[in-house]
Amino acid sequence: MTKTAVVTGASSGIGKATARALAGDGYRVVLAARRGEKLAGIAQEFGGVAVTCDVTKPEDVERLAAEAGDDVAVLVNNAGGAFGLEPVADAAIDKWREMYEVNVLGTVAVTKALLPAIRANGGGTVVTVTSIAGDAAYENGAGYCGVKAAERFASDALRLELNGEPIRICDVAPGMVESEGFSLVRFDGDEAKAAAVYEGVENPLTEEDVAECIRWVVSLPAHVNVDKLTVKPVAQAASYKVHRTS
Ligand SMILES: NC(=O)c1ccc[n+]([C@@H]2O[C@H](COP(=O)([O-])OP(=O)(O)OC[C@H]3O[C@@H](n4cnc5c(N)ncnc54)[C@H](OP(=O)(O)O)[C@@H]3O)[C@@H](O)[C@H]2O)c1
Repeated sequence: MTKTAVVTGASSGIGKATARALAGDGYRVVLAARRGEKLAGIAQEFGGVAVTCDVTKPEDVERLAAEAGDDVAVLVNNAGGAFGLEPVADAAIDKWREMYEVNVLGTVAVTKALLPAIRANGGGTVVTVTSIAGDAAYENGAGYCGVKAAERFASDALRLELNGEPIRICDVAPGMVESEGFSLVRFDGDEAKAAAVYEGVENPLTEEDVAECIRWVVSLPAHVNVDKLTVKPVAQAASYKVHRTS
């Protein structure tokens, strides 16, 4: 029987690549994001189900759960991102709130809404895409580091709470990924600032690299739980230490 996988933030970047990878592994993939048209185009490639959904809106999350169906085998909580890069002294509080809403509350809301279907499936896998930003603070990154740490803690608590049930809770924490939207979103559409993030870095991760990690975690035998997978490009030793050729 075809198993269902739900991927949030599937209109772009890591989520889009993950949706494709899981479809390639035979899942019926339900894709969620706000940009419905973009989402529908991607879903059409492999016969997926596109659900226009803002994970911060309860009615959208409810609709996503309904479209996902009664049995869900895999949930990939990927919708999120960083908004801004400024020191605490200049914190844009509205952006911090928005970051918390999508990365933390959105992830928790979707997980809560889909848990009954994962249980009805007889178990499954919940992957949350956090970040190495959640491992330690870096200058000007407090808002994003904080939300990714909070997302990880929600995921860690859930693993403890579900202990005894056949549900795997996995945290995939990427370092620098040159994805479609991440830096553009962080710098509010400023292409020059976004491009500078990857300047001189030999082979940052691609969205497909991270999608392959997620696909692999999900494909392991059901008793094997990868609690946390950290993946960085070789050129990156820590969030603040990146080798650049120029
Ligand atoms: N790129 C990196 O260096 C990096 C490193 C570590 C972790 N990450 C994490 O990886 C995840 C994916 O990022 P990415 O690099 O693939 O960036 P991206 O290309 O900008 O993709 C972000 C996705 O999230 C969706 N999204 C944003 N707000 C949403 C909302 N309120 N409701 C539903 N969907 C929403 C976007 O779709 P819509 O705009 O259509 O809603 C988009 O599909 C994020 O959680 C990010 O924090 C990225």
